[in-house]
Amino acid sequence: MDKFVIKGGNRLKGTIRISGAKNAALPLMAAAILADGSFKINNVPALTDVRTMGKLLQILGGEVSFENDTLHINTQKLSSFEAPYELVKTMRASIYVLGPLLAKFGKARVSLPGGCAWGPRPVNLHLEGLKALGAKITLEEGYIIANVPRLKGGKIALDFPSVGATGNLLMAAVLAKGETVIKNAAREPDIAFLAEFLNGMGAKIEGVGESVLKIQGVDNLTSCSFNNIPDRIEAGTFLIAGAISEGDITLTNCQPNHCDSVIDRLTLAGCTVETANDSISIRREDDLQPVDVTTGVYPGYPTDLQAQWIALMSLAKGVSRITDHIYHDRFTHVAELMRLGADIRMKENTAIVKGSARLKGAQVMSTDIRASASLILAGLAAEGRTDVSRIYHIDRGYYKIEEKLRSIGGDIERRAGTL
Ligand code: UD1
Repeated sequence: MDKFVIKGGNRLKGTIRISGAKNAALPLMAAAILADGSFKINNVPALTDVRTMGKLLQILGGEVSFENDTLHINTQKLSSFEAPYELVKTMRASIYVLGPLLAKFGKARVSLPGGCAWGPRPVNLHLEGLKALGAKITLEEGYIIANVPRLKGGKIALDFPSVGATGNLLMAAVLAKGETVIKNAAREPDIAFLAEFLNGMGAKIEGVGESVLKIQGVDNLTSCSFNNIPDRIEAGTFLIAGAISEGDITLTNCQPNHCDSVIDRLTLAGCTVETANDSISIRREDDLQPVDVTTGVYPGYPTDLQAQWIALMSLAKGVSRITDHIYHDRFTHVAELMRLGADIRMKENTAIVKGSARLKGAQVMSTDIRASASLILAGLAAEGRTDVSRIYHIDRGYYKIEEKLRSIGGDIERRAGTL
């Protein structure tokens, strides 16, 4: 297992190009199941999760290849409707194939994804929604078995605007007979972009980016070519890297309005942030001020940037409270940050962070994608050497993070094969 060795204390300075969004690419890849043909999706980073979704499409009979950051998918020979446990267990987003398989074949057998490092992550909203569109669903031997001759349009009001459930239901509804209305739909850019992609394939979706989606089912969809959107979570992570290192960095190829919630908090924390068309610059010269954060659905502050914010607040001049309303147990990074000297107390789903003037390097272990990012950020700011182990997590969601950080002055090195 690889690890990162970080020597902290460098001021990060320079320019970084933001990669395409992982969480947008994954549902797009699943959507390709809905049509027979060749797809070309540009600006897709070759991350482990993207490769896992690629493997899944290959198991289903599709052809998938990468050419730099362009993804080619051919679905003409797609014939299987089963997503096996071996792949689904490594990536929860594999559940995205459920809606498209059911819409295309009238049947699907998809492994239940199970929980993850920070607790159970149910798929009840996906299943209830598909039932509302006429699917018969049973659970057998850890698999979701879904059947329906043809999905029928229906009315769905989600109890919670789940990103995954909205995406799955959208992909099912586009080929259903008649009209579907999804109320309380997720408004994350990844979902709005999925809807645009589906419309590009010939779907009829109204309300893109809004919380009520109206879908007129069509009989067929066709393949298409698209440019993926930039990764707002990667951008947010690098903005926090600029803040934590008293840096001066510019991010290019990003979509600033997707990052408003983190930009607002960084400004409150004492950073100077400037945005242009597709770039964001951040500079910090003054002390970090404590800023409370509560995660919420888009356009709220993303849970995927909660761990990184706790790392930042560990160095603020005062006490801040970080509450996660999306995942109440997503705090495995807290104990590791405390190994670096952070003063954090948990009260239910709130981390109370007492900022201090410095962190000190130590050996820490990452537990999930975003927790890894938070430990790397803390390591970059800590005095001395920090070893972050189990970095296979970071490779799932951040493209060549160590190369990007090194290019702006971070002292971080990947060591192969060490624990
Ligand atoms: C997606 C993102 C993930 C992000 C999350 C929240 C991808 C591949 N992953 O995950 O990075 O952290 O959105 O922004 O895009 N829930 C249910 N029942 C369900 C579905 C969800 O109770 O059927 C709950 C979850 O337990 C959680 C909340 O809804 O508390 C949000 O989950 P959801 O929006 O579905 O997240 P994902 O799509 O899994």
